[in-house]
Amino acid sequence: MSWYGAHSFLNEYIRKNHCKKILEIGVFNGDNAVAMVKVAIKDSLPEEVEYYGFDFFDNNLFQQIELKLGKTGCKFKLFKGDTVDSLPRAVKTLPKMDLIFIDGGKSYREASSDWACSWTLMHDQTAVFIHNYEFLGVRRMVENISKEEYQVEIIHPPHDSDSALIKKILVLVKEKKHLTK
Ligand SMILES: C[S@@+](CC[C@H](N)C(=O)[O-])C[C@H]1O[C@@H](n2cnc3c(N)ncnc32)[C@H](O)[C@@H]1O
Repeated sequence: MSWYGAHSFLNEYIRKNHCKKILEIGVFNGDNAVAMVKVAIKDSLPEEVEYYGFDFFDNNLFQQIELKLGKTGCKFKLFKGDTVDSLPRAVKTLPKMDLIFIDGGKSYREASSDWACSWTLMHDQTAVFIHNYEFLGVRRMVENISKEEYQVEIIHPPHDSDSALIKKILVLVKEKKHLTK
């Protein structure tokens, strides 16, 4: 089971949907960040890809990840601190995202706070992936997401942790209309 590093389900989604603006909540050592950015820049100019990462960045992880991301040529910004505080502060300064990966604190309090900020950064096509659905706090948060507003799908990626994929229901209605034209 993969807890850290590259997640093939994210890379696949980024490739298929040409994601350029990516938010990761819980960055750890930045290997997953670099993997996602490398997929995103395959069909764009590196400077067209934007990555935003939030974590405590303990020890000198901040500098190490800056170096790793710097080599990709993408635009990026890292936010240090507890996401319960840092995300609500930063959210007003951030653009709408194409993909959001919630993979930070696993308590109900942290996961709920991370989701409460994430949904404000969704456009009609944004995908929010929430890692580690098996954690009680994460599962409870996902179960509380409005099923009237959001499509919630639990995915079981091979060799990885169960995750939730959240999309706005509005997106599906629009896609259906488009298909029936
Ligand atoms: C599972 S790891 C992230 C792994 C990374 N997404 C990956 O795929 O490689 C969780 C990360 O969340 C961070 N984290 C946990 N709770 C947090 C909080 N309340 N605020 C900020 N960061 C937090 C930890 O420092 C850790 O680096």
